[in-house]
Amino acid sequence: MQVVRTIPEIRALRQQLTSSVGFVPTMGYLHEGHLALVKRARVENSTVIVSIFVNPTQFGPREDLSAYPRDLNRDLELLRKEGVDIVFVPSDDEMYPSEFSSWVDVEKLTEWLEGASRPGHFRGVATIVAKLFNIVQPTRAYFGQKDAQQAVVIKRMVADLNMMVEIVVVPTLRESDGLAMSSRNIYLNPEERQAAAILFQALTLAQRLWQGGEKNADELRQQMSSLIQREPLAKIDYVSIADAETLEELSSLERPALASLAVRTGKTRLIDNVSLDLKGAAIGNDINTCQ
Ligand code: PAF
Repeated sequence: MQVVRTIPEIRALRQQLTSSVGFVPTMGYLHEGHLALVKRARVENSTVIVSIFVNPTQFGPREDLSAYPRDLNRDLELLRKEGVDIVFVPSDDEMYPSEFSSWVDVEKLTEWLEGASRPGHFRGVATIVAKLFNIVQPTRAYFGQKDAQQAVVIKRMVADLNMMVEIVVVPTLRESDGLAMSSRNIYLNPEERQAAAILFQALTLAQRLWQGGEKNADELRQQMSSLIQREPLAKIDYVSIADAETLEELSSLERPALASLAVRTGKTRLIDNVSLDLKGAAIGNDINTCQ
């Protein structure tokens, strides 16, 4: 496995590759969820490239970039075991030199949900992902369904800017109580960790109601919210039943939808979602536990 830190180095390696390249962009501190993306990339491509870069431009002024967990040696060991070929670990200056002044703004889709709660977040994500795509030139790039809005935004950017990359969205990996795997879970103390199971309980409640024939999106939002409110350690940021493609809030469930939420448990903000779509919406289809 080769570990490279500069753009000229990775470009030189990329130029030697003639068959498919699978790319997994990450911010490091890898968990089983990231490794599921890597495994999928490994199966589907001749070469697998992973980037590790804690992207400063996707953090808001009130979000603590310096507190973001990092453990490069452990990450590299995990990637080596997965048979990754190249790891790109650029510095902040490599990706954002002082004269940097071009941004990718995906409109509309980024106005609500995470975009409303975290202004500027998707501008940072779209910009860094576009840069990484230009540098790595992957055949396929892998993203987790847990960050559903991010996946929708990236797909829009790729279509709008005619980028030559296939976006593969991989199902969310969950702990045995349903909590979605996330680098943020390490911030939870034991009580908060227990309370955090309420996110998936609320999402499966929405799936059950929908499967039982409930078409009123407001009813789903209300029932999810009152379930979460029964957990004293959980504070709702948003509860959404939105169109799966446009991410606009729905009043009636006549089209494929996404049930998603953001909830604070103590100081930690967690997000999660499930699909309300005839394809793959059976309860438990989103459960992909890892012991
Ligand atoms: O999902 C993430 O970890 C990040 O948003 C990404 C895609 C690596 C961009 O920094």
